[in-house]
Amino acid sequence: MEARLVVLVSGEGTNLQALIDACADPAYGAAVVAVGADRDGIGALKRADRANIPAFTLKVGDFAAREQWDEALAARCAEYQPDLIVCAGFMKLVGAAFLARFRGRCLNTHPALLPSFPGMHGVRDALDYGVKVTGCTVFLVDRGVDDGPVIAQAAVPVDDDDDEETLHERIKVAERALLVATVGRMARDGWTLTGGRKVRIGS
Ligand code: GRF
Repeated sequence: MEARLVVLVSGEGTNLQALIDACADPAYGAAVVAVGADRDGIGALKRADRANIPAFTLKVGDFAAREQWDEALAARCAEYQPDLIVCAGFMKLVGAAFLARFRGRCLNTHPALLPSFPGMHGVRDALDYGVKVTGCTVFLVDRGVDDGPVIAQAAVPVDDDDDEETLHERIKVAERALLVATVGRMARDGWTLTGGRKVRIGS
């Protein structure tokens, strides 16, 4: 049985596209059953449309309170009976209702080696700090900002001439490969979380 993925997006959607492409191979073991966004007019929604994947948009500003948005997001995702929710460049923090339903099976990708440089500007912060190696992290989503249990990481060297854009583009190449490999392994082999922070894929 294929694992059912709901992918949450806010941007260009290259990570989403990498997952869609990987799912074309039945041996991958997963299918993107829906795409959810927090805004209109983004490249990621066009990619969902081109792949004939159902999509929905829930904007925080359309709700009286953030908690209501969070509940609506959780309910909408649940309609698709996902095994895994993948935040792929989703620029919103999920809240208590969402985590009550999906904690432990919602993952996110971040363009830095956590716990270094969490937050919105992970690439810029690493560059400004002057590190020589940065990278990307796939982790289980929890209450805080980019602080859930780490599932997988990949390193990317920083070049002397990098700016935020060139570095982010290079990280995104590694990030797409890491996300596809990690989601596929989780879909096929399952995973466990022990001691609150240790994620192991497979038995
Ligand atoms: C990724 O680098 C993600 O980690 C970051 O935004 C980027 C999303 O890229 N938060 P895309 O929308 O998947 O192309």
